[in-house]
Amino acid sequence: MKTFYSASEQQTGEIAEEICRSIRPGSVVAFKGGLGMGKTAFVRGALRAYGNDSFVSSPTFALVHDYGGSPHLYHFDMYRVTGWDDLYSTGFFDYLNDDSVLFIEWSENVESALPDNTVLVEIAQGEGPDDRVITVSGGDF
Ligand SMILES: Nc1ncnc2c1ncn2[C@@H]1O[C@H](COP(=O)(O)OP(=O)(O)O)[C@@H](O)[C@H]1O
Ligand SMILES: [Mg+2]
Repeated sequence: MKTFYSASEQQTGEIAEEICRSIRPGSVVAFKGGLGMGKTAFVRGALRAYGNDSFVSSPTFALVHDYGGSPHLYHFDMYRVTGWDDLYSTGFFDYLNDDSVLFIEWSENVESALPDNTVLVEIAQGEGPDDRVITVSGGDF
């Protein structure tokens, strides 16, 4: 387990970039942390680690954004996913392979479907309004 402290959105992106440099293709990166904690900001930084310059936003309505690239990056928002049928319809199980990395916002909702080696990223509010405590565990962490 590793803990990082961020004091700005930009710093969260830099921390994400550093973390993702050691996250291999075939991984699932699952976020916990409420609205506005910086999950999407983290994914934005993560894409830089893979040299992927796609535009990143929360997949609130689409449920999944496909950013392409190699590794092939997918970004899910499971906020409205409540059961196995919903989860299957997002493509989660189809996209998970050796050349993909899946980023999952609101992973709380699909916890029982996450692979054993999932990298869990928990983002919590710190002392000041822009402070965040980012805890990474699972996978190689
Ligand atoms: N340290 C920080 N890290 C990330 N975002 C921050 C931070 N401090 C303030 N923010 C703000 O919080 C919001 C995070 O938004 P977003 O990444 O969309 O969150 P989420 O996807 O968790 O709902 C942005 O408006 C951002 O500017
Ligand atoms: Mg988001």
